[in-house]
Amino acid sequence: MTLIAYNTVPMPSFMYGTAWKENATAQLVQLAVASGFRAIDTANQLIHYREALVGEALLALDKQGVKRDALFLQTKFTPVNGQDHRTPYDVSADLTTQVRQSFDSSLTHLHTDYVDSYVLHGPYSRLGLGESDREVWAAMEELYQSGKTKMIGISNVTAAQLIQLCEEASIKPMVVQNRCYAALGWDREVREICQTHGIIYQGFSLLTANRDVMADPDIRAIATRLGTGAAQVVFRFAIQIGMLPLTGTTSEQHMKNDLQAEHLALLPEEVQLIETIAE
Ligand SMILES: NC(=O)c1ccc[n+]([C@@H]2O[C@H](COP(=O)([O-])OP(=O)(O)OC[C@H]3O[C@@H](n4cnc5c(N)ncnc54)[C@H](OP(=O)(O)O)[C@@H]3O)[C@@H](O)[C@H]2O)c1
Repeated sequence: MTLIAYNTVPMPSFMYGTAWKENATAQLVQLAVASGFRAIDTANQLIHYREALVGEALLALDKQGVKRDALFLQTKFTPVNGQDHRTPYDVSADLTTQVRQSFDSSLTHLHTDYVDSYVLHGPYSRLGLGESDREVWAAMEELYQSGKTKMIGISNVTAAQLIQLCEEASIKPMVVQNRCYAALGWDREVREICQTHGIIYQGFSLLTANRDVMADPDIRAIATRLGTGAAQVVFRFAIQIGMLPLTGTTSEQHMKNDLQAEHLALLPEEVQLIETIAE
């Protein structure tokens, strides 16, 4: 299954996330692709990701016959406040240069000459968007216009910031990636803005941010009806409301189980129930 952003670029409807996989990253990416994932999320941020090991997996997959164009690669520009001393750019350079250096280093890590999606890991400003956000976004627009990334996006963004970006940017984001709390209506406000603008909404930490939901008797009952687990019910719910879920599993069995969510079907009243289950 694919989702299509407003610029008509398609994206696989389920994504494998590589945060916190450390030295197991290369092996887990290969396992994820063998299990059926075609979209991989990473970041050029050594605190949480091993982008170069994602690249190692891509070389191994290429040898096995899985070519670059069969995969959807997404990586991120992480501002200095999300990095430690191992920044993939010169911190004394201007922000435009930092984005270009980080992007070039991502291409080197991933052994490719383009990425499918390039995401700003988070705005510099907590409220609204400031000059730094504008400069970085303009540098990302430049990368999009050069054809080196097929999409640009933003992560960890509030509804107000997303509205502002859509209004001010020359090229509005095609992708938003946010942590998705059931207690906030599964990020309803941001999802609605995405829907209005044809932006693909990617939800992360769907399981880890919603442990109470996973244990909820209603979710358990739906899982029993479908002959599956609570995780698959949550992922299916995400897919059914038009969200692209990320999973960060390290288990081959869970990879397969999670992908099964694409083949389940929730009843309309079950979708409605889960929409407000923690509000
Ligand atoms: N943009 C950002 O700032 C940001 C921040 C955080 C994450 N992300 C992205 O989102 C990805 C996913 O995040 P996440 O790791 O928090 O997601 P997650 O999928 O909510 O959490 C992963 C946890 O869920 C468990 N799990 C997965 N499938 C399961 C199943 N079928 N049954 C039971 N447990 C299951 C995993 O355990 P097992 O390993 O045992 O399966 C693991 O403990 C990250 O890798 C990263 O790419 C982005």
